[in-house]
Amino acid sequence: MSKKIKVGIIGNGGISGVHNSGYVKSGQAEVWALCDIKPDVLAAKSKVYNVPAERCFADHRALLKLKEIDAVSVCTPNKTHMSITLNALKAGKHVLCEKPMAMTPGEAQKMIDAAKAAKRKLQIGLMHRYRTDAGYVKGLVDSGALGKIYFARCQAIRRRGVPSWGVFGRLEEQGGGGLIDIGVHQIDLCWYVMGKPIPVAVSGQVYRTIGNTPGHFGMFGEWDWKTYTVEDFACGLVRFANGATMSIECSFIANLDQDREGCHIVGDKGGASLSPLSVQLETNGHLMDCTPRDFVTVDLHGKPADISIHELELASFVDAVQHDKPVFVPATETIWTQKIIDGIFRSAAAGKEVQIR
Ligand SMILES: NC(=O)c1ccc[n+]([C@@H]2O[C@H](COP(=O)([O-])OP(=O)(O)OC[C@H]3O[C@@H](n4cnc5c(N)ncnc54)[C@H](O)[C@@H]3O)[C@@H](O)[C@H]2O)c1
Repeated sequence: MSKKIKVGIIGNGGISGVHNSGYVKSGQAEVWALCDIKPDVLAAKSKVYNVPAERCFADHRALLKLKEIDAVSVCTPNKTHMSITLNALKAGKHVLCEKPMAMTPGEAQKMIDAAKAAKRKLQIGLMHRYRTDAGYVKGLVDSGALGKIYFARCQAIRRRGVPSWGVFGRLEEQGGGGLIDIGVHQIDLCWYVMGKPIPVAVSGQVYRTIGNTPGHFGMFGEWDWKTYTVEDFACGLVRFANGATMSIECSFIANLDQDREGCHIVGDKGGASLSPLSVQLETNGHLMDCTPRDFVTVDLHGKPADISIHELELASFVDAVQHDKPVFVPATETIWTQKIIDGIFRSAAAGKEVQIR
């Protein structure tokens, strides 16, 4: 049995609880140190996560000085992902950075370059790739069962879903609204399942008509409309080098019939959807609904387990660090999702299709 790794969690708000419990449940990691700029948050999480006060820091650079720490989770607002990740890699730590990996593709590239230079792992928190149904549909695509994939539709639509905590409505802290916050998950998942085609051009538009006005209520209560500077709704069409296209619809706010989160993959032999899973294949001239039913979530070793995708993410990151394996969601891949998102914003600003760089 290899030695347990020691980890630090930087940023101890909402998502940090998932990282803490995922590390603990992996049985192979010890949450050794915490960092948060808010003293009250730090004091509370020190107790909840059982980390002594002398290993709780207000400045992440102090945490990174602890030689015994192998890896860190970066769970801070988007604006700080790059700078904290660069410092962590420079300090020789492996990094699991929350999504989106950065504010821009340029920042994302710097993170990739730093990980390569430091010879350290850099995984991004796009954990939908761990879904059993996603793995199944990816298997169908990879085996050719759906034929050539030429179209995909991905949606992350909330009708009234602006987070009422944190800085999710502030463009300068987040880099965008629903597109970069929740769209990032569905775009990455869809792109991954499609077979990771190379995007070459994007046309998109973004709208803000409601979020910055008073008197609206949502699934998380009232949000701070006065500081709301991100988009309500974003849409786009991505062209890939192999001729395929992907349509995107994402929102924090939209006057639509229902919330929707998922993707559809269309090939010339069949199609498949995620959330919910459905599979269509043509047999004897008829398009058949062929959705399998008996799915069991499995752990990293393929054994049936009661484990969430977040727990799988943490366990797999720990496994990669502990046994020097490649990470399952590498930054070198997730930068394409960042480029697609950036392309939608650039296209919206330019009023025309833009090339992906
Ligand atoms: N993968 C997922 O399912 C998922 C879910 C929620 C959030 N996230 C991502 O996690 C990140 C944090 O989201 P959250 O909901 O936990 O936000 P949050 O606002 O609840 O928590 C962020 C914490 O970071 C702290 N912080 C801010 N700047 C810091 C700095 N420089 N150093 C140390 N601490 C700092 C804040 O004080 C706060 O406690 C975001 O990037 C978000 O997109 C991912």
